[in-house]
Amino acid sequence: MSDRLEDIAARMVTPGKGILAADESSGTIKKRFDSIGLTSTEDARRDYRELLFRSDDAMKNYISGVILYDETIRQKAKDGTPLVELIARSGAVPGIKVDAGAKPLTFQKGETITEGLDGLGERLKEYYGLGARFAKWRAVIDIGPSMPSHNCINANAHALARYAALCQEAGIVPIVEPEVLMDGPVATHDADTCYKVTEWTLKTVFQELYYAGVNLEGMVLKPNMIVPGKNSPKKASPAEVAEKTVMVLKACVPPAVPGIAFLSGGQSDGLATEHLSLMNAAGGLPWSLTFSYGRALQAATIKTWGGKPENVAAAQRAFLHRARMNGLAAAGKWSQDAEKKAA
Ligand code: 13P
Repeated sequence: MSDRLEDIAARMVTPGKGILAADESSGTIKKRFDSIGLTSTEDARRDYRELLFRSDDAMKNYISGVILYDETIRQKAKDGTPLVELIARSGAVPGIKVDAGAKPLTFQKGETITEGLDGLGERLKEYYGLGARFAKWRAVIDIGPSMPSHNCINANAHALARYAALCQEAGIVPIVEPEVLMDGPVATHDADTCYKVTEWTLKTVFQELYYAGVNLEGMVLKPNMIVPGKNSPKKASPAEVAEKTVMVLKACVPPAVPGIAFLSGGQSDGLATEHLSLMNAAGGLPWSLTFSYGRALQAATIKTWGGKPENVAAAQRAFLHRARMNGLAAAGKWSQDAEKKAA
């Protein structure tokens, strides 16, 4: 397999496939396990991730890459096989979350800056040795009465660009993820406000990527879709979400970027799939458009599993179903009919 950045990026956005975001930090996976009444131990986290990566049909046919957390990239399956190897065997590219999380941004109440640049070059070398060929860094932009600030957008865009350059220097494809939140503490904004903030954010990010000398052909963008905040009184139809999302991306993302893989951000499983499918069905896009979902790929799987070994096969079927629906969406071919038939 070629190690050129451009070739790895192309594999990550293979038509009809997408990325599984399984990089929940220990704090986040604990929340997911709490919802099924399961204690988050190292073994439970291993068992759950092993269940996903051993879902052969889902992995081979619909998953192009998997984002891991530091603990997982070092973990072995029950039989001693490194989890990274299970992923690689399925044909998917192993990746790693390298940011150290969103921390309070000084003098900007309620806003955050994503940390983790110190020593990143060294850590990337180690992750390369462990098998990672792409990385992820998530910047968080919230919308509120006096948010976002210039400082928040600039500081986060600058950090994303420094991260992306360090990745490329280490032979690792950066997933550049500036997330404009739909589920922040206020989240009463409408879709048009999301559009304006996303446009501002993406313009700033691509400016910083340019200053940092990042090769656009060797990266993948992971943006939010244009959706109203979860507490907004003004809802948006799937057609409106699809249209506005494509419009903002066309205005901000150079065609040199090979692919865009969306986060789900708190959308329901079904809507995250429908939105993606509508965008691809419309056609005429200069980049490959796919998914890099965490919650929208895993919610049904975790619920079906419930932490019980006897439910592993059923949970894998739930994962296959969701992965297949999103695989169809990545090709613009998802339908309510396909959804119902399989269910
Ligand atoms: P969600 O799809 O649950 O938003 O997670 C994707 C992700 O990787 C966020 O960084």
